[in-house]
Amino acid sequence: MILQTRAIGKAFGSVLALREVSMGVAAGQVTCVLGDNGAGKSTLIKILSGVHRHDAGELLLDGVPVSFASPRAALDHGIATVYQDLAMIPLMSVWRNFFLGSEPRKSFGRFDVATARRVAREELHAMGIDIRDVDQPVGTLSGGERQSVAIARAVHLGARVLILDEPTSALGVKQAGVVLRYIARARDRGLGVVFITHNPHHAYPVGDRFLLLNRGTSLGEYAKADITRERLTSLMAGGAELEQLEHELRRE
Ligand SMILES: Nc1ncnc2c1ncn2[C@@H]1O[C@H](COP(=O)(O)OP(=O)(O)OP(=O)(O)O)[C@@H](O)[C@H]1O
Ligand SMILES: [Mg+2]
Repeated sequence: MILQTRAIGKAFGSVLALREVSMGVAAGQVTCVLGDNGAGKSTLIKILSGVHRHDAGELLLDGVPVSFASPRAALDHGIATVYQDLAMIPLMSVWRNFFLGSEPRKSFGRFDVATARRVAREELHAMGIDIRDVDQPVGTLSGGERQSVAIARAVHLGARVLILDEPTSALGVKQAGVVLRYIARARDRGLGVVFITHNPHHAYPVGDRFLLLNRGTSLGEYAKADITRERLTSLMAGGAELEQLEHELRRE
C-alpha cells in the first residue's frame, strides 16, 4: 500500500464527519470511494491530500504514520488531487494550463514556451488524449477533455497517488467513459488512484477495491473479487430508498 488509513476519524464541531474508516490504495490499483451526499467522501480525501488533519486513527504513507501540514506537503510526497472545479484558467491555452505553477524554465528564468508546448503535446499523446491543438483555450474543451488534461498533468508532475473527487458526476455517458479510460491509463502507468463517485456503474468497471461510506462510517472495503456490481449498487446508501421512491412515483 502506498497510502492507507486505519480507523481514521474527523469531527467538525459536533458533526462526526468520519468514524473509524480504514482504506488503502496500492500502486497500479484503483480504490473507489462510494457513498451518498454527506457520507464523508470529500472529508476523507481532504485528509489524504493535506487539506484537513485527522483527529483519530492513523494515516500511513508507505507504512509510516504521517499527517500532512498542507496540500503542498501532500503534493511533495507525490499525492496529487484533481478537484471537481479543476483550478484551470478557461481563457488560457491547454499547454499553459498544463504547466500552471510548474513552468519549465530556461536560464535567466525565462518561460520556455517551445518546450512547454512540445512536452504538453507529448504527455497528452502518451495518455492517448486526442487534443487537436494545444494552443486552444481550455474553456473550449469538453468537461471530459478538461478532466483528462488534469489527469495527464498530475501524471506528468510525477504523482504516485492520484485522487479524483467525482470526476464523472457532471458528465454524460460518453464523456464519463473517456475519463474512466484515463483513470485506467494512470493505473496502468503504476499510479495508485483514489476515485470518488456516487455511481457504482462508473466505479465497478475500473475499480480494484471499493470503500462504501454511509454517514461517516464504513460499510466495508471490498476487493473486486468479493463483491458483485449488483451488491455494490444495493449497498450504496440510497439504493433501498431509490427502490422505495420508484415505487412511490409509480402511476396509479
Ligand atoms: N468544513 C466543514 N465544516 C463543517 N462540517 C463539514 C465540513 N466539511 C464537511 N462537513 C460535514 O461533514 C459531513 C461529510 O461531508 P463530505 O463533504 O465529506 O460529504 P461527501 O460524501 O463528500 O458528500 P457529497 O457527495 O455531497 O460531496 C457532512 O455532514 C458535512 O456537512
Ligand atoms: Mg463531496
